[in-house]
This record gives sequence, structure tokens and C-alpha cells, in this order.
Amino acid sequence: MDSPTVLVTGATAAVGSDLIPALHARGAAVRAMTRPPGRPLPGVDNVVADLRDPGSIAAALDGVDRAFLTSPSEPGAADLQIAFADLARDAGVDRFVLLSRYAANPDPPVRVPRRHAEVEAHVRALGLDHTVLRPNLYFQSLLAFAGTIARGFFAAPIGDAAVSAVDTRDIAGSAAAVLTGEGHTGRTYTLTGPRAVTHDEIAQALSAATGREIAFRDASAERFTAALAGVLPRRRLDGLVEDYAHYARGEAAEVHTSVADLTGHPARDITDFARDYATAFAPE
Ligand SMILES: NC(=O)c1ccc[n+]([C@@H]2O[C@H](COP(=O)([O-])OP(=O)(O)OC[C@H]3O[C@@H](n4cnc5c(N)ncnc54)[C@H](OP(=O)(O)O)[C@@H]3O)[C@@H](O)[C@H]2O)c1
Repeated sequence: MDSPTVLVTGATAAVGSDLIPALHARGAAVRAMTRPPGRPLPGVDNVVADLRDPGSIAAALDGVDRAFLTSPSEPGAADLQIAFADLARDAGVDRFVLLSRYAANPDPPVRVPRRHAEVEAHVRALGLDHTVLRPNLYFQSLLAFAGTIARGFFAAPIGDAAVSAVDTRDIAGSAAAVLTGEGHTGRTYTLTGPRAVTHDEIAQALSAATGREIAFRDASAERFTAALAGVLPRRRLDGLVEDYAHYARGEAAEVHTSVADLTGHPARDITDFARDYATAFAPE
């Protein structure tokens, strides 16, 4: 196919917004999906749709060749992704790329990867041409801590465990490669950075890039929960605490070469992220 049209969900989120230019660079046309009331993006076919509204999703999928699916990190997201995948099959898309998660696993006790595993199993059984991407923790998740980092610290219940966190620009680059290239049908790619880093090492990278002293403080799950109460809904916060316990057990430290294999360039390191996003962590 010369120039496929790809539906990009989550077009204003971290991965989706980087995926659009990455697809353009590979010659694909983009239909960008934002949820109501919609935020028109330049240089794309814009569509407004809500994963909770099947009619709007069917309309968004109408006429596209390929689809990239992300979802909110919230309870019920798996059902929304499964419903979307069914509609993509009905619409006859010829390639479906699912953004899942590192260590998506049907076994308890970590709820978010478990839900992603349910979606993966459903997609595999649909008979669609599909590829699964399993990224580890996003470097860009640190932006949620920008407020305290601007004051010189960030805190999380992770201790000195290392995580092979990954840059969303590399997830987007990998997704663009899979959406436009050949040989990825039925494959599952785990996307990580080039090494596993501790939060102390992240703090060192941020300090070097910003020229300010930024410290990591280990926090108990209780303190972390208390600090975020009122910022995140309770059930989402419970999932996040489980995620950190999973990281703290050292279960998210494997390094994979998929980013370099798919994109042809090395995965970005925490030092690259810190340099490129230094201004986001500056005091007001
Ligand atoms: N964050 C991480 O470190 C990480 C790591 C690995 C995997 N993941 C996975 O990546 C996915 C996205 O996570 P995230 O943290 O990037 O979430 P996010 O920043 O909240 O992005 C979610 C996207 O989904 C859109 N969205 C939310 N509700 C919607 C609805 N009802 N209909 C249509 N679109 C909707 C949001 O739109 P708006 O822009 O309008 O809000 C946003 O663009 C999740 O499945 C998560 O498990 C995340």
C-alpha cells in the first residue's frame, strides 16, 4: 500500500502526539482522534470520538486502513479497548497496533498489566492483522512530578530498584515503524530504554540537565497515596501504587532491543530525556 491512512487514538497524549509526525515522516496519512469537544490538530484529518461511544468510534474508523489504539489509564479501560478492537475488525482495518504495557501478564497481583493482558488475548483471537507494543514506564511520566522537581525533589515508593523506562518518542517511532513496515504481524515487542535506571540516577540526570540540585526521596506507599489523594481518583491511585510495588520488586528492569531494531536508532537514555525536557522542570 503506497500511503496508508492511520487512525491515531489519543492524538494529544504523549505517544499519540509524537506518532503523528513519525507517521508523516514515513509517508502515511493520519486521521487524528481526540475526544469531545475535540482539539483540531494541524496537518491531519481530525475526527472527534469517544471510546465510550461506539457510534463515534465506528465513524472514526470508517475509511481508514490502519489503527493505533491507546487508552486512558483508568478502571474500565480494558473494556473500552476490547470494544474498539471489535469495531476495527468490523471496519476491515488491515493492520491494528495495540499499545499495551511491559509485563502484560494474566496473573495477579498487578492490575494494570493484567487488564492489558486481557485486551491482548482478545485482540489475538479476533483474527485481525495485529501487533502488540509493550512499553515500560514512560520517562515522560516524570512530567507529573514537575511541580516538586521545580522545588528540588520528587518522591515515589520505589527505593533503589531500577526500571528500564522508555521515552515516548521512541514508543511513537516504534509504532510508526510497525504501522508502515512489513513483517510485524502477530508480533509482540517490549519497548524499553537502553538501560535500567534507579530514581537516584534519574535525579542525577535531571540535576545535570537543569543545573539545579534535584533529589529523589523514597516514600512509603502510604505517604505517596496521601500526597496524591485528591489529584487522582482513588481506584487509579491504587493501581499506581501497585505499579510502583511491581517496580520496587525489580520486575521491570529487563532491557530489550526492540526500539533500536524497529527504528534503526538507539533508544533514548534518561540523559537524553533530561536534556530535552529540562525547561519543563524549571521553577515558575
Ligand atoms: N504512563 C506510563 O508510564 C505508561 C507505561 C506503559 C504503558 N502505559 C499505557 O499507555 C496508555 C496511556 O497511558 P497514559 O498514561 O499515556 O494516559 P494518558 O496520558 O491519560 O493518555 C490517555 C489518552 O486517552 C485519551 N482518552 C481518555 N479517555 C478517552 C475516551 N473516553 N475516549 C477517547 N480517548 C480518551 C486521552 O485524551 P485527552 O488527551 O483528551 O485526555 C489521552 O489522549 C495506558 O493504556 C497505559 O496503561 C502507560
